Amino acid sequence: MKSIVEQVSQRVAAAMALIGAEGDPQVRAAQDDKFGDYQSNCALGLAKKLGKKPREVAEGLVERLEIDDLCARPEIAGPGFINFRLKPSFLARCLEAIPDVSSCGEDRVGVDRVERPERVVVDLSSPNLAKEMHIGHLRSTVIGDCVSRVLEFEGHTVHRENHVGDWGTQFGMLVAHLRSVRPEVADQPDELVISDLESFYVEAKARFDADEAFKRESRETVVELQRGEPVTRRIWKAFCDESLRHCHAIYDRLGVELIDRGESYYTDRMLDVIARLEALQRDRDDGFVAVSDGALCLFMEGFKTRDGDPLPMIVRKSDGGFNYATSDLATIVHRVEELHADRMVYVVGLPQKQHFEMLFAAARQTGWVSENVSFKHLGFGSILAKTGLPFKTREGGTVKLKDVLDEAVVRARSVLERPPSDETKSPRSMTAEEAEAISERVGLAAIKYFDLSHALNSDYKFDLDSMLAMEGNTAPYMMYAYARIRSIGRKAGVDFAAIPGSTPMILEHPVELALARRLLQFAETLELVGRDLKPNILTEYLYDLARYFSRFYDRKLGVRVIDASPEGVRLSRLRLCDLTARVLRVGLDLLGIETVEQM
Ligand code: ARG
Repeated sequence: MKSIVEQVSQRVAAAMALIGAEGDPQVRAAQDDKFGDYQSNCALGLAKKLGKKPREVAEGLVERLEIDDLCARPEIAGPGFINFRLKPSFLARCLEAIPDVSSCGEDRVGVDRVERPERVVVDLSSPNLAKEMHIGHLRSTVIGDCVSRVLEFEGHTVHRENHVGDWGTQFGMLVAHLRSVRPEVADQPDELVISDLESFYVEAKARFDADEAFKRESRETVVELQRGEPVTRRIWKAFCDESLRHCHAIYDRLGVELIDRGESYYTDRMLDVIARLEALQRDRDDGFVAVSDGALCLFMEGFKTRDGDPLPMIVRKSDGGFNYATSDLATIVHRVEELHADRMVYVVGLPQKQHFEMLFAAARQTGWVSENVSFKHLGFGSILAKTGLPFKTREGGTVKLKDVLDEAVVRARSVLERPPSDETKSPRSMTAEEAEAISERVGLAAIKYFDLSHALNSDYKFDLDSMLAMEGNTAPYMMYAYARIRSIGRKAGVDFAAIPGSTPMILEHPVELALARRLLQFAETLELVGRDLKPNILTEYLYDLARYFSRFYDRKLGVRVIDASPEGVRLSRLRLCDLTARVLRVGLDLLGIETVEQM
């Protein structure tokens, strides 16, 4: 089924064609339902082109609109807005068209796949393997996972690339240290365990700073690594594998799947990139590739230093070494030529904004990337402490992601163990294992949801109390809303899954109509999220849906459900419950949140 906004848009486009106009029908969901459910502003823009008054154009369009099966007669408001109010019969028909769960493998709650699926590369998480994952990696991991899930749900093929930092001078130091404190690693690389990578790094660094001989050895080790000396490589690999095991313990807990392809993967490809750039330098005289102060640089229009001089992107340092930009150019070549990406999304913090601007500009200027391939740096703000200052441990160190997750789970447990505030609710009955499993889910969900519900560009304060609040736009509230609807099914003695999809929907009461309309907007919400990659559009939608449901089910404001009669009305309302639960489950799943049947 096409989304509602698409269906209305098609009708408007058809009317536009009849008055000899074309372009975007500009149909959007109405801000305020006083004016209807959807609005088109296209008459305003067309008026200029057609040399008429906007209202006249709107009248012409409304006269020609064939839309009676979808809405009441459209109304013209203000200077020439066209307002649409959907008919209950249309809403009912759309809901009836959503297949029941039993008839499909994956529950898509009636949302179509895109017509033109793309290959999308999502670069996410990407920690530096020299250290433990810290709080700063949360956002890239969680946001990257969410957009990947949404794109995949829409029908795109998604490559989730974990571009870990596993190359560079730090690794010389770490390998040299490892070789001296754990000499057995050379023979048994698979048995390496480093319980605390952070303190291992600190030890190595202290030695590096204090001991000249060790510093020299570290530097030599880097050279050995680059030369591919087998024993050094083996130790380096043992270290990286162990570090990746730490990362994957976190990914497993968070339910995040990705492919590890670190900087080292591109070592040969970087040589190739440099060779290609040198060829460009020979063949072109536009100054794009040039040597400056001994370094091989790229110069792109529009990038200037503070003093107004051209700002170079260095791709080979004067000592011959490669850097972050070199490896990122190599990722682009790989993603375009081997993964055949149509779209590349880099989920990396905002401090790297300029790096990506320059990188994308450079990639375009090489001519290696076709115009049809798109780039996006999906930047995001920082996580701050409750005080608004940078998030640090009491000692001023970086906060390990694992510790944050553990704390959230412990706190979730105490929140869930509190007796229900509402006396009428029956006390929770759960075994200790169930309680533990639910706390793990709720605790991690709370962190994810809080993160995803913030606009990407803004910073936010990490506050477990707000994340775990049972009221408001939080994971516990949303998960509870889901569990509550499922319990309605149990109370009513019906298996939601057994209510046939063909059940006639009877929509009369305003709360039913409002809920139905919001449910059906799931498809267009996902379209927006897939286009703009803003997870908070999805959290807002789901939160809103939960509130519409509350009004529908409210004893005073809403309608009877479990004890509604006649039976046809009861079934229709129970199916509204079921559909709401399904949209919540699918929507939360796209945020990387698993629901629970009982909380
Ligand atoms: N490892 C990098 C860092 O910690 C992030 C890499 C992001 N991805 C990329 N392709 N540059 O800052």
